[in-house]
Amino acid sequence: MAKEHKQSSAITPLFSAEAIENRIREIGTEISLDFASATTESPLLLIVVLKGAFIFAADLLRTITIPCIVDFIHASSYGSRKISSGNVTIKHNLAIEGRDILLVEDIVDTGLTIQQVTAELMTMKPASLSICTLLDKPEARKHPVVARYTGFIVPNAFIVGYGIDFNEQYRGLPSLGVLDS
Ligand code: IMP
Repeated sequence: MAKEHKQSSAITPLFSAEAIENRIREIGTEISLDFASATTESPLLLIVVLKGAFIFAADLLRTITIPCIVDFIHASSYGSRKISSGNVTIKHNLAIEGRDILLVEDIVDTGLTIQQVTAELMTMKPASLSICTLLDKPEARKHPVVARYTGFIVPNAFIVGYGIDFNEQYRGLPSLGVLDS
């Protein structure tokens, strides 16, 4: 039986849980084909950008059929507001030299976060670095970022649900929607 969420009244539905599941399965298949040469000795390293991508990454990981390992990075630019602060804080302790990296992000908005994370990870000399984002808001882009894998293109609105928050709320919603302003 579907969960009822008391907090979903202020949200305009965008993508259902089923639509998200189907799209993630497609992306997982694509990733498994693209990195088919991965082995247990040389697995694909998924680096998950916390916190917003944690549910997406958990579901994506279970659709990938090649050897892969997972680590996490903390990057935040919004704090408790709906507008990006422009300052990205990155916390990590990763050994990535020589590895194929798949950076797993919830939303590419202005592109600042992923641009700064990518720049920092590139200094650690990975063999390759690809970006996988659940949502892309191309209209909001200020920094040139191109994701290799994108779940859905979305309008320039504030989206919540499926791990994505506003002020730490709404992460538990199984679907994605626009938070009414
Ligand atoms: P960017 O640095 O402007 O690309 O912002 C990326 C980050 O801001 C994402 O990883 C999210 O954590 C957050 N963000 C951007 N747009 C939204 C939104 O619509 N809802 C919730 N968080 C968002």
